Amino acid sequence: MTKNVQANFEKAFGNGDGETRIFFAPGRVNLIGEHVDYSGGLVLPCAIGIGTYGVIRRRKDDMILLASGNNPLKPVLDLNTLGNDPIHGWGNYPKAVARLIMKKGYALGGFELYVEGNMPSGAGLSSSASLTSLVAFTLNEVFGLGIDPITRVRICQDAEAMNGVNCGVMDPFACTLGKKDHGILLDCSSLKYEYIPLNLGDYRIMLANTNKRRSLADSKYNERRAECEAAVLMLRKAVDIGNLCELAPHVFEQHKHIIKDETVIRRATHAVYENQRTKDTAAALHNNELQKLPQLLMASHESLRDNYEVVGAELEAMVQATVAFSEGLLGTRMTGAGFGGCTVSLLHKDYIEDFTAKVGAAYNAKTGLQPDFYVVSPWDGVKECQF
Ligand code: GLA
Repeated sequence: MTKNVQANFEKAFGNGDGETRIFFAPGRVNLIGEHVDYSGGLVLPCAIGIGTYGVIRRRKDDMILLASGNNPLKPVLDLNTLGNDPIHGWGNYPKAVARLIMKKGYALGGFELYVEGNMPSGAGLSSSASLTSLVAFTLNEVFGLGIDPITRVRICQDAEAMNGVNCGVMDPFACTLGKKDHGILLDCSSLKYEYIPLNLGDYRIMLANTNKRRSLADSKYNERRAECEAAVLMLRKAVDIGNLCELAPHVFEQHKHIIKDETVIRRATHAVYENQRTKDTAAALHNNELQKLPQLLMASHESLRDNYEVVGAELEAMVQATVAFSEGLLGTRMTGAGFGGCTVSLLHKDYIEDFTAKVGAAYNAKTGLQPDFYVVSPWDGVKECQF
């Protein structure tokens, strides 16, 4: 892959002067702890071995030349005028990162950057955080800026906001700080984190892409976030909290009547209980009690469907087809922001072929869509590749 990407860089920009370097940023899958990061909750994602490659070469002027193997648009930007402009399409993500870096007082020069992802975009696997984490890391290395990883994570989160999604911290955190064979138990309020060994034995992480694009996802995402913030404001009349996930379920039950909107109660119920489920999942992994996972993952899925209402017909069809398959299955649920995208399942390695054939056929019969399947492993965060 690195050889191809280097060749594609040269096709895009020619083989001019100066050193080229190549980097890789993973995507991520969230195992559990969905839609709680912006409520200060616990999440348990891992970086995965599919993501975004980038080849970069510095320039002597202030121009930024971008090209992508996944998009024909080749934005040409000037470091001195980095405002968001719809005409620059996907280039607005790298642009936002460069702009935020400079806003913090770091000096950048011009560069040529070719990126190429081997992951599906818009599938809930964080293709945009993979791209922003790649750009933040790459610029940090190539211009010797010395920006620490957490600051880079925040830059990536702000870059998403500059592109219209008020997302949480989970995705760039996982893409930046992932660790091979481990999940990350991240407290999104304090940013304290712990690597949890994913000793899944003969089980594999199977992703099923519904290939239903996440239309409307951005506006619905911002709406959910606002509903959780509304819940906090109401609950603060009774309890002294900074964010929703500080509430243990039993304390929430005592006070939830203070929320005067039935929909908002359901949103808050999801956040509070999902936070507890993440704790329980981490404990189960820690104690090697894998038999507890199916119930935890399904409870997460049902709450995302019934309380949080981010599971569309396609995700539901995939989960139902997966549960009906059942052989060798250690749990399944939707993953990511929802409204389309992927499910994550833990599946015994001997059933992979059978699973893709049977679940694929059942899903297709129900929705008319052709799904894609990926078996992924927990991977390291963004880093430089050797040629
Ligand atoms: C998207 C956001 C994350 C997180 C998830 C839902 O991936 O970028 O911050 O909120 O949705 O868990």
